[in-house]
Amino acid sequence: MAASKKILIIIGATGNQGSSVVDEFLKLPNRNIRCLTRKPTSSASFALSALGAEVVQPGLSDLSSLSKGFANINAIFLNTKFLGNIQGNITGEAFRRREAMVIEYILNEQPELAEKVSLNYLCGYNTDPMLIPRFNRASGKYSFALPLAKDVRISIIDPKEPTGPFVLPLVEDEDAGTKLLAYDAKSYLTIGEIVDLWSKTSGQDVVLQKVWHLNGGACALGFIREYGYMGGVNNFLEPSQLEK
Ligand SMILES: NC(=O)c1ccc[n+]([C@@H]2O[C@H](COP(=O)([O-])OP(=O)(O)OC[C@H]3O[C@@H](n4cnc5c(N)ncnc54)[C@H](OP(=O)(O)O)[C@@H]3O)[C@@H](O)[C@H]2O)c1
Repeated sequence: MAASKKILIIIGATGNQGSSVVDEFLKLPNRNIRCLTRKPTSSASFALSALGAEVVQPGLSDLSSLSKGFANINAIFLNTKFLGNIQGNITGEAFRRREAMVIEYILNEQPELAEKVSLNYLCGYNTDPMLIPRFNRASGKYSFALPLAKDVRISIIDPKEPTGPFVLPLVEDEDAGTKLLAYDAKSYLTIGEIVDLWSKTSGQDVVLQKVWHLNGGACALGFIREYGYMGGVNNFLEPSQLEK
């Protein structure tokens, strides 16, 4: 009976990651999907309704409206703004804090809630300009300007598809509190492999140009060079360790 289905609320359901979660959970017979959006009349919101999801617009700064929007739910999906609130150059320390203040607050100050929160570390989007080589007129070659050595391994992921398949086992099968480094084995590559793949696929000479001083988001890569992508995060699972 529909009334006894568990409800998953998805914040950011109209976006890349959230819509992937909607798609995955709509396949389950025992879940109702409630999507939170600021724009219930957008075409993305209409598309979610057409798929069979409920679309709601609680005022995010209005507690009583939020309580109504979140009534009777069993699980919440939300993603944090990746480095979004950091101004200027991003230091290694800022990158370490990429889990965002809200997660730090939950883990450090809300132990009861922390036990129920699972974290999905999605890695870099394949659309990220930092991870796409640029043509260098002077050398006539394409180059990646990265502060990373060839043997550093990072995951590059399609922004639209994989979030749902990683989030589903975290909600349905794994213990609450699980941390998952989400990657697809085909795209968990070293920088050297990424450069070679670009060369092979494009038929162009693509080189790695190592730089040590970068501005903006690229500074965060310096942290990966020093500590690895998951530096500072302990006891996380990799996809092959998931229950199902
Ligand atoms: N790990 C990585 O490599 C990586 C890479 C890229 C991005 N990210 C981070 O992942 C996050 C989500 O990515 P995405 O690609 O799914 O983003 P997206 O496609 O731009 O979608 C953003 C979603 O968030 C909702 N939203 C935006 N501002 C909001 C607010 N103030 N309150 C409530 N909802 C809000 C939007 O919903 P409505 O407009 O319908 O309200 C939309 O559904 C981004 O913040 C980004 O920083 C991580």
